[in-house]
Amino acid sequence: DGSKLWLRYQPLSAKQVKSLSMVISSVLIEEPGDCTAITELQYAWKQLTGKELPVAASLKDYSLVIGTEKSKLIQSLGLQKELQTLGSDGFIIRTMKSKGNRITVIASKGENGLLYAVFNLLRNIQLYVPSSNILRTIQLGSSPFTFDIKEVPSYKIRILNHWDNLDGTIERGYAGHSLWKWDELPGKLSPRYKEYARANASIGINGTVLNNVNASPEILSNAYLQKVKALAEVFRPYGIHVYLSVNFSSPAALGGLSTSDPLNEGVQQWWKDKAKEIYGLIPDFGGFLVKANSEGLPGPQDFGRTHADGANMLADALKPYNGIVMWRAFVYKSSMEDRAGQAYNEFTPLDGKFRSNVILQVKNGPIDFQPREPFSPLFGAMTRTALMPEFQITQEYLGASNHLVYLAPLYKECLESDTYCSGEGSTVAWVTDGKLFPHPLTAIAGVANIGEDANWCGHQFAQANWYAFGRLAWNNELTPEVIADEWIKQTFNQQKEFVEPVKEMMLASREAAVNYMMPLGLHHLFAWGHHYGPEPWCTVPGARADWLPSYYHKADTLGIGFDRTLDTGSKAVGQYFVPLRNDYNKLKTCPEQYLLWFHHVPWKYKMKSGQTLWNELCYTYDKGVQQVRGFQKTWDKMESFVDAQRFHEVQSRLKIQSKDAVWWKDACLLYFQTFSRQPIPYDIERPV
Ligand code: GCU
Repeated sequence: DGSKLWLRYQPLSAKQVKSLSMVISSVLIEEPGDCTAITELQYAWKQLTGKELPVAASLKDYSLVIGTEKSKLIQSLGLQKELQTLGSDGFIIRTMKSKGNRITVIASKGENGLLYAVFNLLRNIQLYVPSSNILRTIQLGSSPFTFDIKEVPSYKIRILNHWDNLDGTIERGYAGHSLWKWDELPGKLSPRYKEYARANASIGINGTVLNNVNASPEILSNAYLQKVKALAEVFRPYGIHVYLSVNFSSPAALGGLSTSDPLNEGVQQWWKDKAKEIYGLIPDFGGFLVKANSEGLPGPQDFGRTHADGANMLADALKPYNGIVMWRAFVYKSSMEDRAGQAYNEFTPLDGKFRSNVILQVKNGPIDFQPREPFSPLFGAMTRTALMPEFQITQEYLGASNHLVYLAPLYKECLESDTYCSGEGSTVAWVTDGKLFPHPLTAIAGVANIGEDANWCGHQFAQANWYAFGRLAWNNELTPEVIADEWIKQTFNQQKEFVEPVKEMMLASREAAVNYMMPLGLHHLFAWGHHYGPEPWCTVPGARADWLPSYYHKADTLGIGFDRTLDTGSKAVGQYFVPLRNDYNKLKTCPEQYLLWFHHVPWKYKMKSGQTLWNELCYTYDKGVQQVRGFQKTWDKMESFVDAQRFHEVQSRLKIQSKDAVWWKDACLLYFQTFSRQPIPYDIERPV
């Protein structure tokens, strides 16, 4: 089953165990003595080798030496200075010689770094020992399995956002109810809380926001804070800090005050008292996440104040305890003003006005977690404000837990987008990870896809998206290929005949989803409400203005696409730096993957392929369908490599995905055909 995630530690063969013992045969523990890193190491070692790793009293050949900077041995190895450069979470794993002994050293400043190092070592052992012949290389006299790893995470805060409600439901959650059993807490602790913390620590995640951004004021009541404290205590040994989403009108709604105006002294005091209460219970509490004046939620603008006034008031309350405020930039009014440009217009004038413990949390794209969006133009535009990317791990707009869509390529596409804000090479990754602008605060968030399903994420392959988010948060230079490879090998098996085709399928899956849902820059063709299937014709009474037919696609008899150009359109393209602004602004130079995002294009426009736009649209939708058929074929061949349960679960979901892909293609093409008035080319699959 999928409950063990990627932490399976499948037993090594006797030969492999022997090989491993020629690299590590005992462990020498110095400061900090007993800690989670050691417990995890011993647990995994037992799973892998069938035996405990002997604890040695002194250094000998093949010792694994573990210690923080306080350890005498680490100091005697001359590593102290280097450790100072690694921050609190960084670490070294290094093969060294000491007094004639060949040893492996794991060192970090503090205990969290040791934990990340142990998980890194275990990953390396699992990925490389089975496929290498250490014994033979030793016999041949060459140097086997030499470690020289030094890692510092890309972001200081690597955090999951749970959109979990206090009644146990999850907004946009597709893996069952919430993991948090609020009704049982704090008295009863589900064993899954610890499993959750382990899984996160194993990929470097060090923070979690427990509740929905559409926050209930109730979460700040003492009764709930006691529950939060209980969770924080389970997570603490795994280096996970707890954060909460707060409702901006809590002082009035929960505290009974007559206002929640951030400039009101009583309100400020209420937040200060609340912070004191929280930190009294949870000394390492991380801080607040705030969705304010967005989608009907209260915020500082209700009192004529700015986002900065609101964020700073909370920041001041948290400051004495080193707490932070993650203030979301996901704002737009339900008006006919181009939604894509609104967050930029609202936030850029506030650049430089936020406290140093405030970070703006910006969704990867300017609209809302669509299958493909250009990066948000806020990245690079606010150089005096710390900015953190927010990705969605849960598949709100990507087939929920029915579609196999590996999201690392989507995350990576955003992170490596060049904003050009400080010339070429100013990628979103560099704008946010402190390389370009040295903000003391760096962070990255992912909206979790975790629920109480036995396999945690609904779809077996959705686990890969949790894994990929964590790995990229730790190291934003990793490639989707490497991450998929690691995940498959740890989650399933290492057989090449399995790993290669499955990896290929995963790597193609995001583009396939774009193809069968909304290719060529189309966006938000989703059904009102559930966001699962297509509804580009939306006529739901009560739907927001921006959902009315054709708000996003603008199809008419002349063409299709949202004109965001400078001369004839909404001018949102002007929010990007040169040369992007110019490239996107011109039809000829706009990348075709964003064509209909920025342009209203005639149906007969000639695409790079030589096809008309209409035909290209037809062929691309069809290609998406064929790609999913291909995934089915690939997976069917994998039956002998996977346990029956996981095989059948994935197989049946691929059938759903295949049907859905046809549904998307038919719905969109038949609807758009009423405008294009062109035939669907005969060589693609007929509508069903
Ligand atoms: C989307 C999503 C909402 C969510 C919102 C947000 O609009 O559909 O459910 O609350 O994003 O990110 O705040």
